[in-house]
Amino acid sequence: LEVPRPATFVTLTGFMGVGKSRIGRELARALMLHFIDLDRYIERRTGISIPDIFRHLGEEAFRRMEKEAVRELVGKDYLVLSLGGGTFMDPESQKALLGRGPVVALWASPETILKRAMRKPGERPLLQVENPLERIRTLLEARAPVYRKAHIHVSTDGRRVEEVVEEIVEKLW
Ligand code: S3P
Repeated sequence: LEVPRPATFVTLTGFMGVGKSRIGRELARALMLHFIDLDRYIERRTGISIPDIFRHLGEEAFRRMEKEAVRELVGKDYLVLSLGGGTFMDPESQKALLGRGPVVALWASPETILKRAMRKPGERPLLQVENPLERIRTLLEARAPVYRKAHIHVSTDGRRVEEVVEEIVEKLW
């Protein structure tokens, strides 16, 4: 008897401010899985905030930490893992996660991203520039081809969390 089995390791990727953390938490609840937000995980592990890691250790050091954390977490199960916006750019992490289970990319417009990112401006070191909207557009354009490698794609633009979670759950089956 073949019983359809729901996924037990789901990754959320996408640009800053698309809602990976909020959606991930609720998706985990809906699927009865654990939830880990990669940025928070790194902050807990190192005892340093993401902006401070960027400021004092540099972006490269942060990318190494991300990579190491992914390598560690793909070994776990019963998990929804929300990545940072740049995590999926690393080919090794990308391959490991795509092979581990369904990867969901969340999408939103640059304007929505700006609005959400500006709520906590200190938390996004990559957007600490004179023209953040321009920076979002450029970075999003460069990264979009990589996010497109995800298995499932969902827009969060102007939508409620429950609505997005419902769509993901439907597409996971
Ligand atoms: C980054 C996104 C951030 C955080 C770091 C770098 C990026 O995560 O990991 O500031 O390169 O896009 P969020 O996507 O959760 O903001």
